[in-house]
Amino acid sequence: MLVNQQQYRTIWASVCDGLHTVHIIDQTRLPHVFEVVPIYHFDQMIAAIKTMQVRGAPLIGAAAAYGLALAMQEDASDISLCNAVHHLIQSRPTAVNLAWAVQRVRQVILPLPLQKRFQAAWKEAALICDEDVILNQAIGLHGLSMIQQKQQSHTIHILTHCNAGWLATVDFGTALAPIYAAHNAGVDVHVWVSETRPRNQGASLTAWELSQHGVPHTVISDNAAGHLMQQGRVDMVIVGADRVTAKGDVCNKIGTYLKALAAADARQQGHEVPFYAAVPSPSIDWAIENGVGHIEIEERHADELAWMVGRLASGEIASVRVLPEGTKVENPAFDVTPARLVTGIITEHGIFAPHELKGIQQKIKNV
Ligand code: MRU
Repeated sequence: MLVNQQQYRTIWASVCDGLHTVHIIDQTRLPHVFEVVPIYHFDQMIAAIKTMQVRGAPLIGAAAAYGLALAMQEDASDISLCNAVHHLIQSRPTAVNLAWAVQRVRQVILPLPLQKRFQAAWKEAALICDEDVILNQAIGLHGLSMIQQKQQSHTIHILTHCNAGWLATVDFGTALAPIYAAHNAGVDVHVWVSETRPRNQGASLTAWELSQHGVPHTVISDNAAGHLMQQGRVDMVIVGADRVTAKGDVCNKIGTYLKALAAADARQQGHEVPFYAAVPSPSIDWAIENGVGHIEIEERHADELAWMVGRLASGEIASVRVLPEGTKVENPAFDVTPARLVTGIITEHGIFAPHELKGIQQKIKNV
C-alpha cells in the first residue's frame, strides 16, 4: 500500500554481501514517524513482536516465520529449533497465525540437514508473506461485492475497530481490504474508526493508513460506536480477527464484543447493521469450537493503560501518565464475540455464515 505515494509492504527481506536482513515498519512510532527498522537477529525479532513494533495477526505470523529463520542462521541444531519455536509461540499467544506460521516453517525444516535449515526457513517465510498478500486481495474482492450489493444512493458508512488494515498484514489488510477495494472501485465509502484504547491502533494506525490512501474516515471514541449504530449512522461493521474457532466465534481486539452487541441491538431496533469479520484461513483455529474460555487471552502490561503516548506541541514524542499512581489495572488485550452475534465471515473463499465455516474446512485445508 501507499506511504507518501510510495508502494510498501510491512515486512520484507534483503540479502546484501551475504548479510540477511528483515525490514519492518516500526508501528510504535506511527502516525508521527515513519521508520523502517532492520532486524538481523532472532532476539531482535522476538522483541519487535513483544513490543508491537510489528503487530496484527497475519503480520506477526510472517514476522515469526522470519524470526525462526534468523534463529536457524544463528544455530540450526534441534535444541535451538525447539527453543526458538517455544519462545516465538509464547511471544504473543492469542493470534493463531503466529503458531501456524512457526509450525509451518518448523515442519519444512525439521527433516533437513542442519546446513540446509536456514535457507529453507528463509524461503518458507517469504512464501508465507506472498501468500498473505494473495489471501487478503481475495478477501478484498469478496468484501467488495458485498459492499456493492449494499450500496444504494448514499455513502456507505463502515465501522471498524483496532487496525486490521495493511499494517496488520503483509499488505492490503483483512477488514480494510474490502474498504480499499470499494474505494478503488469508485464506491462512496466512509469509515468510522474506533480509537481502540489502550494502544489506540484505530486512532494511530487505521486513521493513518486510510489517510495515506485517501479513504474518507472519522475517528470516534470507542464508547461512541453504540450511539452511532442506534442512530442508524452505521451501515455495517467489519473487523479483523486474531483467532476464529471452528464454529465461528471471533476473537479480536478488546472491545470488539461490545461493538457486536451494539450492532445486534441496533438490528433488533430495525437498523440494518450486519457484523462481519474478515478472516484469512490461517486465522481459523479448527481445533477449538468455543472461543469463550478456550482461547488464551493475552494480558498486556498495566503501563499501556496508565500511560499514553503522543506528540507534544513542541513536536517531541512523549509518554504522559493518565492514572493515579498505584492504581490497580487489568489489561486483557482481546475478547471473543460469540458466533451468534456474527453475520458473516469474509474469507478468501467467499463469505460464510459462522455455521457454514465447517463446510469449507476441507476446501480451505486442501488449498
Ligand atoms: O494487539 P494487536 O494490535 O496485534 O491486535 C490486532 C487486532 O486485534 C487486529 O484487529 C487483528 O489482529 C486482526 S489483524 C488483520
